[in-house]
Amino acid sequence: MATYKVGYFVGSLSSTSINRVLSRALIQLAPAGLEFHELPIGNLPLYSPDYDASYPEEAAALKAAIADSDAVLFVTPEYNRSIPGALKNAIDWASRPWGQNSFDHMPAAVIGASIGQIGTAVAQQSLRGVLSFCNARQMTAPEAYIHFKPEVFGESGEVADEETAAFLRAYMEEFRVHIERVLTVIPRS
Ligand code: FNR
Repeated sequence: MATYKVGYFVGSLSSTSINRVLSRALIQLAPAGLEFHELPIGNLPLYSPDYDASYPEEAAALKAAIADSDAVLFVTPEYNRSIPGALKNAIDWASRPWGQNSFDHMPAAVIGASIGQIGTAVAQQSLRGVLSFCNARQMTAPEAYIHFKPEVFGESGEVADEETAAFLRAYMEEFRVHIERVLTVIPRS
């Protein structure tokens, strides 16, 4: 069985991020054949085309880490019915310079946790629009809108509720299938 390298974004910069907790759960519940590395976004300056001729170290490192990934996973909060600025900034960096879009044909999946009932649904729609423009190959089903409950999600990624664990396990299994399908048709160069 092939092993795929998944770079994952946590869209929150919060030291107590529930989306980071969710990312730990997803990694624990992922099937064999997926390896994970975080794609850090917290130290990136704000993107400007002025940098295109010479990317700063943090942004070059982000593009290199994405290039070293077979797929990307976005685990993000919803901020004011969209994605956090830090995540959008990271995507803008990775999508440039023009002609060197890191997401081109990249298998991708989106998921997010919120303390609110709709579980980042609106942010995910916004993110999907961005990723569509970036020509990422998104997994469109299953969708995953996680209403975060502290009694369900442990800090280290343990999931107390078996129904939630089964849902997240199935989500990650589908992501592996999706990655395999995309890379069969469009191998990473
Ligand atoms: C939020 N929150 C929020 N929740 C939501 O469901 N929809 C929203 O539009 C917003 N908007 C929003 C804006 C800002 C600036 C903040 C700080 C928060 C609440 C949000 O779901 C909650 O803070 C989560 O804990 C954020 O995820 P992390 O940062 O803990 O991963």
